[in-house]
Amino acid sequence: MTEISRREFLQQSAAAAGSVALLGGSALAADNAPAKPVSPNEVIRIATIGCGGMGNAHLGALTNLKNSGYPVEIVAVSDVYQVRLDAATARTGAKPYSDYRKILERKDIDAVSVAAPDHWHSRITIEAADAGKDVYCEKPMTHWRDLKEAQDVVAAIARNKRVMQVGTQFVSSSLWEETGSRIKSGAIGKVIHAQGSDMRNGPIGVYDPKSNDGQADPTKNLDWKMWLGPAKKRDWDPGRFFAFRSFWDYSGGCGTDFLPHIMTPLVRTMGLGFPKRVSGTGGQYQLKDGREVPDIFTITMEYADGPSVLLIASLANDSSLPWVIRGHTGTITMDLGKSVIAPQKAVTGEAPGEEIVAKRGWSLEEHFRDFLDCVKVRRKPRSNEMLGYQVMTALHMGIHSYQTGRSMAFDQATGRARFV
Ligand SMILES: NC(=O)c1ccc[n+]([C@@H]2O[C@H](COP(=O)([O-])OP(=O)(O)OC[C@H]3O[C@@H](n4cnc5c(N)ncnc54)[C@H](O)[C@@H]3O)[C@@H](O)[C@H]2O)c1
Repeated sequence: MTEISRREFLQQSAAAAGSVALLGGSALAADNAPAKPVSPNEVIRIATIGCGGMGNAHLGALTNLKNSGYPVEIVAVSDVYQVRLDAATARTGAKPYSDYRKILERKDIDAVSVAAPDHWHSRITIEAADAGKDVYCEKPMTHWRDLKEAQDVVAAIARNKRVMQVGTQFVSSSLWEETGSRIKSGAIGKVIHAQGSDMRNGPIGVYDPKSNDGQADPTKNLDWKMWLGPAKKRDWDPGRFFAFRSFWDYSGGCGTDFLPHIMTPLVRTMGLGFPKRVSGTGGQYQLKDGREVPDIFTITMEYADGPSVLLIASLANDSSLPWVIRGHTGTITMDLGKSVIAPQKAVTGEAPGEEIVAKRGWSLEEHFRDFLDCVKVRRKPRSNEMLGYQVMTALHMGIHSYQTGRSMAFDQATGRARFV
C-alpha cells in the first residue's frame, strides 16, 4: 500500500466519517467508480476467522485467486472447534489460532475474512477494524436484534478508514450496474414496486435443530463459551452449534440468512437507501421441530416516495417469486444472468422490449477479487458497510415486526426504528 493511495482513501472516506444515520443511498452512487490497476507486487496477507461451511468456501475462493496469480496469501486461520481448525490448517498450511484475537494482534496481517455465525459479525468486524485490518464479513452484516450493531460497524470502518465487503456475492454480477443505469436513464419510468425471494424446500438451508456430528465435545475439542461469545450464556447444545440459524440468539432464520442476498442487489440497483416503514409476517407452519424461527417469512418495505418492496424467504416450499422491478412505463424481470425490460403497453403502446445480458457473471471469487482490489486502491467495494447498514435496517425492523405483529418506522435523521 503506497502512502499516496492511503491519503486518497482518507479523502474519499471523509464523508463517510460524518453522521452514520444521515448517510443514504446517494452516498453509495459515487462508490462504484472503476478500480485502478492493482500492483502485482503487493501481496495481501489475509486470515479467515470461522472455518465451517462458508469459511471453507472463503479458503477455496482465496486459494483459486492465488493460484490464478492474484497476489493474496492465506496466512492464518481460526476456529473454536479443533476438528475444523485442524482441517483448515491442513488445507492451507496457514498458522492456526483457536482465539481470533491473537490474529488481530499480528501487524503483518492486512485483512480478515469472517465466516463465524451472525452473532459474532459486528464484534469481530469492529475489533478487526480497530486493529487496522480490512474486513470481508459474511452476510448478514450484523445480528438482526440491535440496529446499533450495524451503526457501530459503519462507524468503526469510517473512523479506521478501513475497507469492508459484506458477503453477498450475487452483487458481483455486472447485471445490477447495467440494469441500474437503464433505470436511471428512465427505461421504466417512475419505479413503484420491486420483489424477490429465496424459496427452499429440502436439506439445503433448513438446518435441523437436532444436528450433531457426534465428534464435537466441549470437554475435549470445542470452546463452547467462546462460540457463544456475545450471546446469552447456555449449557452445551450441539443443535445450537450445528444449526445456529434455527435460533434467534444467533440468527433471524431464513429472513436474515437468505434475504441479504436477494435484497442487497435490489437496494444497490435502485439506490433505495433506508426504508421508511417495514412489516414482517410469516409463521412456523411445517417445521415444528424445536426451531424458534419461522419456515416462511415475508417482509414489505416502503421507501420515501417509493418504491414498495416485497421479499419472501421460505424453508418449506421452493416455488420462487422472481426478481422484478416495476416502473410506470416498463417492468424488469431479472435472473442472475440477464434482465428483460418489457414496456407497459397501456402507457407506451407497442414500444420494443430490451434484453440486458450480464457482461460479468457473479462468483465468490469475483466478490473477493472486488474486495481485494478495493483493499489495494482504498475504494468502497460493491457490497460495502453502508449498503449492509441499509439492508440490516430493513431486516431488523422486519424481524421485530414479525415477532410483535406491529409495523416499524425508521427515522433516518436519528437512526432510530420505532413501532407504529
Ligand atoms: N455468502 C453465502 O452464500 C453464505 C453461505 C453460507 C453461510 N454464510 C454465512 O457464513 C456464516 C457462517 O455460516 P456457516 O454455514 O459457515 O456456519 P458453520 O457453523 O458451518 O461455521 C461457522 C464456524 O465459525 C466457528 N466460530 C464460531 N465462533 C467463532 C469465533 N469466535 N472464532 C473463530 N471461529 C468461530 C464455528 O466453530 C464454526 O466452525 C454465517 O453468518 C452465514 O450467514 C454465507
